[in-house]
Amino acid sequence: MTTGVTEFIPRLSRNFAGTEDSPVRALLDLVSRPGVISFAGGIPDPEYFDLEAIRAAYQASLDRPERSLQYSSSEGERELREILAANLTVEGIPTQADDLLVTTGSQQGLTLMGQVMVDPGDVILVEDPTYLAALQTFGLSGARFVAVDCDEEGMIPDSLESSIAEHDPKLVYLIPSYQNPSGRTMSMQRRRAVADVLLATGTMLIEDDPYSSLRYSGEALDAICSLDGMAEQTALLQTFSKSVAPGIRLGWARVPSSIRDAMIVAKQAIDLHSSTVDQYAAAYYLAHPETHRSDEEKLRVYGERCHAMARELPRALPAGSRVTTPQGGMFLWAELPEAYDTDTLLPYAMREGVGFVPGSSFHVDTSIRNTMRLSFVTNAEEDIVEGVNRLQRAVAAYEAEQLQG
Ligand SMILES: Cc1ncc(COP(=O)(O)O)c(C=O)c1O
Repeated sequence: MTTGVTEFIPRLSRNFAGTEDSPVRALLDLVSRPGVISFAGGIPDPEYFDLEAIRAAYQASLDRPERSLQYSSSEGERELREILAANLTVEGIPTQADDLLVTTGSQQGLTLMGQVMVDPGDVILVEDPTYLAALQTFGLSGARFVAVDCDEEGMIPDSLESSIAEHDPKLVYLIPSYQNPSGRTMSMQRRRAVADVLLATGTMLIEDDPYSSLRYSGEALDAICSLDGMAEQTALLQTFSKSVAPGIRLGWARVPSSIRDAMIVAKQAIDLHSSTVDQYAAAYYLAHPETHRSDEEKLRVYGERCHAMARELPRALPAGSRVTTPQGGMFLWAELPEAYDTDTLLPYAMREGVGFVPGSSFHVDTSIRNTMRLSFVTNAEEDIVEGVNRLQRAVAAYEAEQLQG
């Protein structure tokens, strides 16, 4: 079973800040106001940036100006690709430097895949909900989206199979670990079942994996790309954004040889190459793990915040709401009873001084209005408690004004 296919133009105009009634624009205004508690963003807590090691890495990069301040190659500096290949966090897939393409964040990996793989009108199968900026960038290539039914373990293999038969998609886009926006993780059994369907139908997969370094509980799970036969059918996207810092704007893609050259040409056309200074700094950083600050404290604190949000949130939400319990990543996802509209709830929350992202932007079918995304990583536990108090008051005011009669 599948739900809704939408064109990309309404989605883009809907989600780009700038129209007078844009909730995103209002949200951006809100979260920059002093005293506001924002559960809206998806950014790391700057407290845990590995500043000393990053500073040393940039210094080392600038110590080689003849290379680091020069033009580079579109596929990325070999020095960086070699150490990325050696360090690749995905077990079980032998990877050489030439299998990798350095990108300006994994967002650019998505854009390049859209450029290379998607013709206007092609269908992409996605999870419901899914990452907003993937919908936006694939939408720029003219993709149409079909949301495949999901449960707590992610995409349902039978629904995937019937959607492939019905829509003949160009590719499937998945975020298997600590998904943005739902916080969900696809179990190992589910990953195997999904891979079986993709292999049997010869369907290409984009496996977007920005969050796997942010694990607070549960086991580390193998990437779908590493399962037998999948490496030649998967573009695996990873990034420094969540593990080191998003401002570095570096990611990498492990892509099948069949599309690698086309991606390099597309990248050349878009930006020639990613920043050389950043690439040499990243290569130095990876080559010197002895300089790194341990991740232990960050993961412990993020995990506690996740737990606090999951504990507090239910009291703010109406009876019958469902909240995910993520094992990692940055987000919790709440589904309220159908009568509730979180786009309409947002101004009530803003008046109370708390922000969240209404879920409609993350659904293919943007008429779904009863969901919301909340990020826990940047707020201390007492701010999470206070933010939920404010949300509770906002929900009460919304109910009194919008749901009576
Ligand atoms: C699922 C997903 N993919 C890709 C990205 C883009 O990340 P990057 O900063 O590497 O471009 C994000 C950022 O939040 C994300 O959540």
